[in-house]
Parts: sequence; C-alpha cells; structure tokens
Amino acid sequence: MKLTEISGSGAEKQVAPDFTVVELKLTEDGSHTLYAAGIDETYHSTHGAVQESEHIFMDAALRICNQSNLTVFEVGFGTGLNAFLTLVESINHSLKVHYITLEKFPVAMADVEALNYPDRVAPDKKFLFEALHRSEWNVPVLITPDFILEKRQTDFTEFKHTGSRYDLVFFDAFSPEKQPEMWTQACFEKIYEHCHSGAILTTYCAKGQVRRNLQAAGFEVERLPGPPGKREMLRARKQA
Ligand SMILES: C[S@@+](CC[C@H](N)C(=O)[O-])C[C@H]1O[C@@H](n2cnc3c(N)ncnc32)[C@H](O)[C@@H]1O
Repeated sequence: MKLTEISGSGAEKQVAPDFTVVELKLTEDGSHTLYAAGIDETYHSTHGAVQESEHIFMDAALRICNQSNLTVFEVGFGTGLNAFLTLVESINHSLKVHYITLEKFPVAMADVEALNYPDRVAPDKKFLFEALHRSEWNVPVLITPDFILEKRQTDFTEFKHTGSRYDLVFFDAFSPEKQPEMWTQACFEKIYEHCHSGAILTTYCAKGQVRRNLQAAGFEVERLPGPPGKREMLRARKQA
C-alpha cells in the first residue's frame, strides 16, 4: 500500500493511504472502472461497472421509488457513473432530481476523460457526462432544466447534513475493510435523521456488521440478490 505522510512532528509519523493515484481498468461488461492502488480497491465491481451501478442504484432504488421529484444523496462521487445514470434516467422519464454528492478526493480530469461511460450508456449525452465533472464544486449547478447537481468536496465522516431531505441514498464508499469509519452506526444515524419517511438507501455491501449498523441507526434492512459476481446487496428503508 502506498502511504503519504500527513504529520511529521512526532517520532512515529502518521500516514494515510493515497487515494489520488488511479489506473484505468476494463471490467467484464466492457465498461471501465478505476483502481486506487493506494488502498488496493476498484471503484466498481470488476464483473461490470455499469452493470453493478444499474443493478444497485437504478433498479433497486431509483426505479422503484415511484417519485418524479426527488433528492438523491450519494457518498463518493468518484467517476460520476451513478450521477450520469441518474441524469439519463431523469431525461428519459422526466424526473426532477436534486443530486447531492460528496467526494473527498476528486478524480483528475485526465482520468475522467479516459472513461468510456458515455459510449456504453448514452453516446449522445457525452457532453452531459463532461458537464457533471466540469461543474463547480460546493455550489448547486443546473445541468439540465430538471437536474441540479451539488458536488461537495468534503469528508463524509465530518459532513453536516442540511438543506433538502433525502429520498434516495446511494451509499458507494470504498469497502468497510478499507474504510471502516465510513460505515458506522453514527454515520448512518446522521443520514437517517436527514431522510424523508419512506426513503431508500442501497449499497453493494452485504456485510453483517453493516446491516446491523444500518438497523441500529433506525433503518429496516433487506438483503437482495447482488449484481453478477456478488451474491447479495443491502437495501434499507426509513419506515413511512
Ligand atoms: C467505491 S468509490 C465509488 C465512487 C463513485 N460512486 C463511482 O461510481 O465512481 C468510493 C469513492 O468515495 C470517495 N471517498 C473516500 N473517502 C471519502 C470520504 N472520507 N469522504 C467522501 N468521499 C470519500 C473515494 O475517493 C471514491 O471516489
């Protein structure tokens, strides 16, 4: 694991993994993902990045929420794949979306430009994929008349939830093995408090401890079949 010095004052230096060095990888459905060597994690399933995002965030959340005007909260903007799929869905089904997404380590534009998501998902909307990435951080930006993007460059574990309450939560952090601080009961409680009744949270992770932390935070949690290559995923709801 590559380590970066973050404090050099004591005899023992504190170090943090470097998230910013990424490599482009082709996944089994023909779409790209990024590999962060510093923590030895890919941004998506190697069995298929687009296929995974479609399954976990579109099919298991957005397409079943039955709302045409909604606020989505995402943990980890990363490649912007989930935001792009949501934007395409918003255009195709006339959904009004306020998309709030946090990212502590934005992906460099040169790495974004190498991603083949527009070609795989909606080639005629490549300019919108670029607009998602080029839009200013920390302010709401109108990407289309129906889609507001609010990218916040911040640390999720320190984030104070304010403003629009959430209807959907796309919980797409790196794994709890690598970043346990992102998956705590306390983090889920803060999200729960800021969700509308009936809100849905989905994640690729099906770990027992994550399920218990979601339940302890107040969510009702179900296990669902995962995308190809993964047996299960989790869907949590705030009771109506
Ligand atoms: C599994 S990747 C998924 C990203 C994105 N949803 C995608 O489809 O590309 C996890 C993301 O969380 C970001 N991240 C890591 N630690 C974070 C933190 N403390 N706060 C906010 N984002 C963080 C990473 O930089 C990475 O972009």
